[in-house]
Amino acid sequence: MAVAEVETPLPTRITAGTGKLPRHVAIIMDGNGRWAKKRLLPRAMGHKRGVETVRNIVKAAGELGLETLSLYAFSSENWKRPEEEINDLMGLMRDFIKSDLDEFAANDVRLRIIGDYKALAPDIVEMLEESIARTSKNSRTTLAVALNYGSQDEMVRAARAAATQGEISVSSIEANLDTFGLPPLDLVIRTSGEQRLSNFMLWQAAYAEFWFTETLWPDFSKDELAAALNEFARRERRYGGR
Ligand code: FPP
Repeated sequence: MAVAEVETPLPTRITAGTGKLPRHVAIIMDGNGRWAKKRLLPRAMGHKRGVETVRNIVKAAGELGLETLSLYAFSSENWKRPEEEINDLMGLMRDFIKSDLDEFAANDVRLRIIGDYKALAPDIVEMLEESIARTSKNSRTTLAVALNYGSQDEMVRAARAAATQGEISVSSIEANLDTFGLPPLDLVIRTSGEQRLSNFMLWQAAYAEFWFTETLWPDFSKDELAAALNEFARRERRYGGR
């Protein structure tokens, strides 16, 4: 690819429908704690700023033309964190849904939850289900938030369900994954310099591209998302073929 083309900034160059824009991007939002530590702030402040970034990136995803954005907000392993931090994260989740639901309507965002979210506090479960119902007709961007999500657990649940329905096959397992109906996962982004999947979308990532950045999640921006999409557009995907 010509250098001049590479240097042309997004979003002008990449447009939806060219086949070069990912349909589904998943982000492992990492580094809230380190962001706070660097500023001698409590961890909760890092998570709070992390929610600001979530807000900006959901909006940016719509503007950049992504169909689906999946965010790893709380893993099934995050229960190992101190109770105070878990409470902070759940509180932020409540506030986020309450304060941003109208914004979702305005930006045509449909909410999906992946993970075993029914194990969360009953008021959160109720709020999430109401929000899913309220946004179900929106069609510009789907925001899939992973809550109490662990990919191995998701695959076990899917395989069990498939077994009760009949034959176990790739398609029967896929039909029972929490992500059923979402576009195939194209791109996984992880912030904060870590380069691992941490039990996130292991099945779905089979042919996904990966993009890592040193940026801590509270500092992640639309420009950086656009840079990831630019890099994605340059990758050649072969899906095992040649
Ligand atoms: C990783 O930072 C981040 C999390 C465990 C939670 C991500 C949650 C949010 C951004 C806020 C809630 C989300 C929504 C959708 C409202 P870390 O604490 O592991 O950071 P560290 O590795 O620097 O300690």
